[in-house]
Amino acid sequence: MTASNKSLAVDLQQVSVGYGNGVTALDDVSAQLPSGAICAVLGANGGGKSTLCKALMGIQRPQQGSIRLFGGSVNRMLKRNTIAYVPQSDDIDWDFPVSVQDVVMMGRQGQMNWLRLPSREDKRHVAHSLERVGMLAFAKRQIGELSGGQKKRVFIARALAQQARLMLLDEPFTGVDMTTESDMLDILRAERDAGTTILVVTHNLSSVPDYSDQVLMLNRRVIAFGPTAQTFTADNLANTFGGVVNELLKVTGAAQHEDRGALARPTQAEYPL
Ligand SMILES: Nc1ncnc2c1ncn2[C@@H]1O[C@H](COP(=O)(O)OP(=O)(O)OP(=O)(O)O)[C@@H](O)[C@H]1O
Ligand SMILES: [Mg+2]
Repeated sequence: MTASNKSLAVDLQQVSVGYGNGVTALDDVSAQLPSGAICAVLGANGGGKSTLCKALMGIQRPQQGSIRLFGGSVNRMLKRNTIAYVPQSDDIDWDFPVSVQDVVMMGRQGQMNWLRLPSREDKRHVAHSLERVGMLAFAKRQIGELSGGQKKRVFIARALAQQARLMLLDEPFTGVDMTTESDMLDILRAERDAGTTILVVTHNLSSVPDYSDQVLMLNRRVIAFGPTAQTFTADNLANTFGGVVNELLKVTGAAQHEDRGALARPTQAEYPL
C-alpha cells in the first residue's frame, strides 16, 4: 500500500516517536486501517498507546516514518477538523470552569462561522450528542462537578458533535460501569457503521472481540496487528502482556493450552486461542 492511498483512514509507515528525555515511545510502527473500522489498541503501561494518539493528533511529531490520514497529512486533516480526540483522563484539567454544553460545543468549532458564534445547527448537534450519551439533563453543570464516568460520556459527546472521520479514544472505558461501557459500545458501533474510523485504547480486554474489527498490540514496537479473529489470540496477548495474561488465564479457569478461549467471548473456532 502506498502512502497516498486515500481509501486508508490511517496509514502509519515505520513511525518512530521519541520524547525530549530520550525515551523512544514508538519504534518503527507500521499499520494501515481502512475507513469505517474500529481498532482496539492494546498494550502494557508505557507501551506507547497514548503516544500513538498524540502522534495522530499532531501533538508529538514522528522522528522517522510517515503518518497519512485519508491520504493527507496530519496537519491538513486537523485543519479540516477531521480528527476527534478523547484524551486519557489524567491528561485533562477537570478544574477548568466550563459547562458540559460548552465542552461539547468545542467539538463544533471547526464547523462554526468565522465569528465563532454557535448557530442553531451547532446547538442542535450539541443537544443531540448529549442526548445520545444520556447526559442532556447535565448540560448546564460544570464539567468538574461530574463523576468520572459522566465526564467520559461528555467527552464522547464532544467527539460525536464534531462529526469527525477519525475518532481517537484513549481509555474511554477505564473506570466506567458495565452499563456505560455497553452504551458507549453501541454508540461506537453505530458511528463505525456510518463510516467513522475509531481507535480505542483500552485495558479492558474482555470486551475487545465484541466491537473491534482490528487489533493493534503495542510494546514500543508492533507486537501484533490485524483482524481481531486472527490477532486477538492468547499467544499475542502473552507476548504483549507477559506473565500477567497467563495469570489471568489461570484465574478464569482456562487451562493454558486446552481452553485459552476463556479470555475471548466468541467461540474458539472464531478466535484460535
Ligand atoms: N511527556 C512525556 N515526556 C517524556 N516521556 C514520556 C512522556 N509521555 C510519555 N512518555 C514515555 O513514553 C512511553 C510511552 O508512554 P505512553 O503514555 O504513550 O504509554 P501508554 O501505552 O499510553 O501507557 P498507559 O497504559 O500507562 O497509559 C513511556 O515510557 C513514558 O514514560
Ligand atoms: Mg496512555
